[in-house]
Amino acid sequence: MVFSYIYTMEERPKAAWTIFCKNRTEDFPETCMMREMTEPILWMCSRREFPTWGTGDYRSTALIVRGQDGTTACDLRYRGYRILSGKYGLSGLPAVYGAEKEAQTLEVVLEDGRTGIQVTLLYGVLPKYDVITRSAQIINTKENIIYLEKAASACLDFVTGKYDVISFYGRHAMERNYQRIPVSHGNYVIGSRRGTSSHQYSPFLILTEEGTTEDAGACYAMSFVYSGGFQAEVEKDQFGQNRMLMGLQPEQFSYPLNTGEVFVIPETVMTYSRNGLAELSQNLHRCFRNNLCRGPHKEKVRPILINSWEASYFDFDGESILKLAEEAKELGIEMLVLDDGWFGKRRDDNRALGDWQVNEEKLKCSLGELSAKIHTMGLKFGLWVEPEMVSEDSDLYRAHPDWALQIPGKNPVRSRNQLVLDFSRKDAVDFIFDSITEVLDYAEVEYLKWDMNRSLCDVYSAAAGYQGKVLYDYVLGVYDFLDRLLKRYPNLLIEGCSGGGGRFDAGMLYYTPQIWCSDNTDALDRLQIQYGTSFGFPISAVGSHVSAVPNHQTGRKTPLSTRGAVAMAGTFGYELDLGNVTEEEKEEIRQQIKEYKQLAPLIQTGLYYRLSNPVTDEVAAWEFVSEDGTQAMMQAVMTQIHGNMTGNAVKWKGLEEEACYQDAESGELYYGAALMETGILLPIKSGAYQTFRILLRKVGS
Ligand code: GLA
Repeated sequence: MVFSYIYTMEERPKAAWTIFCKNRTEDFPETCMMREMTEPILWMCSRREFPTWGTGDYRSTALIVRGQDGTTACDLRYRGYRILSGKYGLSGLPAVYGAEKEAQTLEVVLEDGRTGIQVTLLYGVLPKYDVITRSAQIINTKENIIYLEKAASACLDFVTGKYDVISFYGRHAMERNYQRIPVSHGNYVIGSRRGTSSHQYSPFLILTEEGTTEDAGACYAMSFVYSGGFQAEVEKDQFGQNRMLMGLQPEQFSYPLNTGEVFVIPETVMTYSRNGLAELSQNLHRCFRNNLCRGPHKEKVRPILINSWEASYFDFDGESILKLAEEAKELGIEMLVLDDGWFGKRRDDNRALGDWQVNEEKLKCSLGELSAKIHTMGLKFGLWVEPEMVSEDSDLYRAHPDWALQIPGKNPVRSRNQLVLDFSRKDAVDFIFDSITEVLDYAEVEYLKWDMNRSLCDVYSAAAGYQGKVLYDYVLGVYDFLDRLLKRYPNLLIEGCSGGGGRFDAGMLYYTPQIWCSDNTDALDRLQIQYGTSFGFPISAVGSHVSAVPNHQTGRKTPLSTRGAVAMAGTFGYELDLGNVTEEEKEEIRQQIKEYKQLAPLIQTGLYYRLSNPVTDEVAAWEFVSEDGTQAMMQAVMTQIHGNMTGNAVKWKGLEEEACYQDAESGELYYGAALMETGILLPIKSGAYQTFRILLRKVGS
């Protein structure tokens, strides 16, 4: 496997590197077609690091390059390598980072003499997380223009074995549902053709050996560090070999490269665990939290916020916002976030996107004054923006209709009544950057919710010429904006959002250490959404709020305690009209806030264990264990209620068998082995969706 090659190489760079090269390039059959017929065994065992067309390998490829004459053959040969200390970075694209002592980079140079295509494969090795990252740079060294038609940054070939593939599908307000199916002959392909990573599939895939569980068995993951369209594949060929690929969405992609131009394929983070899925997730959680998220907030417990969206939607003014802030402060909430509706003529979602001027008439003061009043109360202030969008009913659209993505002569597809701004063009990006920073310069704003509420459809940039590059350049435009924003306001906390969790990907985490997980705030649905999200993304990234009942998305009523427990498995906050909350509920909220503040370090940085499957089990349960092992917390929600309920014991994970743990509330003592073998029986309570929390402290620590 690649993983063992790389790790061996780290210890014995030159010797192991020779093995690596031999297997991958020099030894690779010159005429694979012939060999396939005459020497099937040899062919069968050929694993490819970066498969291309025209080599006799007919499986899915990582790279397709089309020449001007339409040929797509590209026979890359090994030319050289370098090993460097520290992890490589990517210009204009997000990437895992690693200092000299924690990471190494391997560069492998390949070349196709005929076409002049030079490829540098980039490998980043971060041993402490069992992570290897991959990216590649493609250079056109010849005179003729070439077109990249497919570009994947990671390929793993498995010669033998039976595998399952785990992917996460969804839709708006029901993102990242877990699906596990056996890999069978043919190609299993997921992806997004929407220009964003999408609600529909997460850019994240797991391959497990058959029978792998949370706690045992081999599994491999690929996570794409990119926020645009992607394609992930698992192909099982005629010999039962499996190939796993992750890369850019090839449809609507055709990137021209002139002489000397370089194209960077966004990074894929790969990890491996031989101890099951919990460890696989923990590898990614730790890597993303520490070596992908950046800025002062990545380490900090995030402020507990109240968001105005489900509290009042567009129906607010300056006074009602100040009232919400006062009520929030009184409960212990730390930040007020003013969501959609504060700018231009934005009284509903039909208009004004692009007009980022404060509606002072509605706020009854300037934004600076509103923010100052909120700060005087002792709260921080946050603001919602949706920079990538434009409404046709906006001053911006009237002035620059050519800045919207739309195809001349075609009626554009509208979604949420809006069009997408052409972020592949710098003038549009600069204009929006200036309008938004003008607002941020004159009001004290600690937090920004960066929203993006539709998919890209009519992909045509009036500035682009050749259109096959627009979707990729659009994403670079988004990253450039975010980068500039963070440079200008280094303390700003940005929360990503895209109609809830429609752009929940590792690429965004580089700029936004937290992402609104879903527009669905129903506690029961959130159990399922957050369960799926936890496989690939850290809990510290999961935006999660307590909202009102009946829930606005499902109409379901759940106890406040349950809503609190579920929202605490993320960055905690509230999103409801506090004017409608009873005194008794207010007291419970005060209590929740106190508890969350105590538990937040454990929740944000602890090792996360899934203790059950909330879709199939009667109990949804999860656990955090502090990295030093001295504390553990289990949280459970009964997802079903029946007459004459049977008992449910939840078995703990990740404890020390021999150590003794004390229940912080009851004072009961348990051995780690007993907690993990038999668990603690949950008390039977009547009422739907009851929740339980047990906090354990290791005795003697
Ligand atoms: C999206 C977001 C919501 C809210 C609205 C505002 O749907 O996901 O949280 O901000 O936009 O229009």
